[in-house]
Amino acid sequence: MRSYLKHLTRTTAVGAIALAAFSLQPGSAFAGPAPDPTGTVDTKVVGGTKAEQGEFPFMVRLSMGCGGALYAKDVVLTAAHCVDGSGPNTSITATAGVVDLEDSAAVTAKSTEVLQAPGYNGKGKDWALIKLDKPLDLPTLKIAEDDKLNNGDFEIAGWGADKEGGEQQRYLLKATVPFIDDATCEKAYGDSLTPGDEICAGKLDTGGVDTCQGDSGGPMFRKDEAGEWLQVGIVSWGEGCARPGKPGVYSEVSTFAADIKKAAGELGG
Ligand code: ARG
Repeated sequence: MRSYLKHLTRTTAVGAIALAAFSLQPGSAFAGPAPDPTGTVDTKVVGGTKAEQGEFPFMVRLSMGCGGALYAKDVVLTAAHCVDGSGPNTSITATAGVVDLEDSAAVTAKSTEVLQAPGYNGKGKDWALIKLDKPLDLPTLKIAEDDKLNNGDFEIAGWGADKEGGEQQRYLLKATVPFIDDATCEKAYGDSLTPGDEICAGKLDTGGVDTCQGDSGGPMFRKDEAGEWLQVGIVSWGEGCARPGKPGVYSEVSTFAADIKKAAGELGG
């Protein structure tokens, strides 16, 4: 399967320690055991909870097993490692407008073109745009154009695995993770991290909350000064999921904002 190839590619590029550990493989994000002696908590969403219908209306599920966000009504921002290069592409289906992927109210569109970040080679630059064959009547997610809000607590959401090695989810899950500065993240990942291109987030001490396989390409976001959602990250990689000391690594959207804007303008259509 292609996802395994990507996994290998990424693993090689990063010089990863263990194949199973570093995964860019499409398909994950919520994990981390949390004891639930009372059994009152839905243990399928350890580290996360179900999003409300309409809570994150810009969220997109992509058919290769990745997430994405509506950058424009007919353009999805996702991860470079979720796609196979640039050019005409009619193989991807985008599903949006629902938290339940089996909801008959879901809206779908097909890809017409993919633009993978120029120069992407598996290290940093993990962003891509997918042009859709029709505009979706849903709100878009603004991207951060500077680093002012690259701090604080971030929201993550996706249909990826609810734990390391877990299954893809039918219902959209969400969680909150704190920002982790570059120096701290470099201590966790060394040279695998590309600090200018990447922003880290997670519960360093305890683990337990994270994105995971299948969440790749999805947004990490927070409120801006005006109280509107702003995308600061794109789910990219991590060693395992939700492990203590191993934060999630996200593409730093502010670094690429100008490139993304320009690329979106050049997409055919
Ligand atoms: N690369 C994964 C994907 O393709 C996302 C991994 C995120 N991992 C993490 N620990 N935050 O779905």
